[in-house]
Amino acid sequence: MDHFTLKNGVLHAEDVPLPQIAVEVGTPVYVYSRATLERHAQVFTQALDGVPSKLIAFAVKANPNLAVLKVLQRQGFGADVVSGGELMRALAAGMSPDKIVFSGVGKTRAELELGLEKQIGQFNIESREEGRELAELATARGLQAPVCLRINPDVDAKTHEKISTGKAENKFGIPLVHAREVFDELAELEGLNLRGVAVHIGSQLADLEPLETAFGKVGQLVADLRAAGHTITHVDLGGGLGVPYKAGDILPPPSDYGAMVARVTADWGVHLTFEPGRVIAGNAGILLTRVIRVKRGGNGPPFVIVDAAMNDLARPALYGAWHDFDAVQPTGERMTANIVGPICETGDTFARDRDCDALQSGDLAVFRTAGAYGATMASSYNSRGFVAEVLVDGDRYAVVAERLAAAAIMDAEQVPDWLD
Ligand code: LLP
Repeated sequence: MDHFTLKNGVLHAEDVPLPQIAVEVGTPVYVYSRATLERHAQVFTQALDGVPSKLIAFAVKANPNLAVLKVLQRQGFGADVVSGGELMRALAAGMSPDKIVFSGVGKTRAELELGLEKQIGQFNIESREEGRELAELATARGLQAPVCLRINPDVDAKTHEKISTGKAENKFGIPLVHAREVFDELAELEGLNLRGVAVHIGSQLADLEPLETAFGKVGQLVADLRAAGHTITHVDLGGGLGVPYKAGDILPPPSDYGAMVARVTADWGVHLTFEPGRVIAGNAGILLTRVIRVKRGGNGPPFVIVDAAMNDLARPALYGAWHDFDAVQPTGERMTANIVGPICETGDTFARDRDCDALQSGDLAVFRTAGAYGATMASSYNSRGFVAEVLVDGDRYAVVAERLAAAAIMDAEQVPDWLD
């Protein structure tokens, strides 16, 4: 459920009519709904009522906007970060360091040092080499880093190949067959408090079965590690729960996920960490765009050329992803169209042969389910600026990320004087 609904024939974000934002802030612009973010946070939290000891750490990569992080911080969420930049954002949004988990397959030495300096709650280590390096850095500071070892369970998450992370051929985690020996070695290092394991098999999962299979393997590993004399107090189950992108799509609700987790982990006796991203932010945001013009197609439907492009919302170009596309003031008439942006490559196509609201030049429209992996994946390709972001709260809104104009990006560049 979200708060982007038609009122008197005009699409609103909560109580703010989208044409007002388009006029006052300009387009393209991402619009987030605070009420939707809070509702999703609460639904996910309640779904895990059956898990006695837990941390919910929002996957910052899904939406790193400071205001969005602040909303979630106020809901008691921590943060799952994968770079020094995300770590600084989580802290700036007021997340307590002990609720910050540092994931990622290629943390640099400087990033490991930053995590130690900020005394974050957990490092998810993805290799023997990374564990040794962190131990050395922690020992030099007289610290013990809290660590989980990320394992690769070799489970097919049945999602898009580019966002699958738990198969043997993916770069993430330590293969299960090596987990015991790596754990034995790293547990000996005095700079580490090696206290558990982590897993994350992929994103936009439409089926709970691969997750259950992966968690089952983790449970078996926990039992094996304990039998070998290790103390296991923490397990991180990652994120991955999918969301409906197409009206009518049915996905497993958080309550089913929570019930499955509670059942599978009932006798583990550990503190569990969750790293949801998309399921919290995805349907809490839309990308508002204006039709530049409608152009007749060669031998197919017309091209609806909007002022948003693949640099603002990369998912369709990158993954062939579907985003529902609706007029802000639908007339009831429909058309079949190719929805495209102005960028000079054919990949800048949001949808082909799409049945959608009839649109004309100047009309406003939205791409839905754009609150996760939307603005954060923007670029300035074709020397377009960085898209603006707005957060709505009831009948008020605020610009939470200024549009970064093409001129401002150019200001960061210099022509060396030896080219004069
Ligand atoms: N934890 C880890 C270690 C992750 O790598 C990810 C996502 C998450 C948590 C959050 O997963 P979620 O709950 O959002 O599914 N750009 C792609 C998605 C990439 C996801 C990468 N990792 C897209 O637009 O679909």
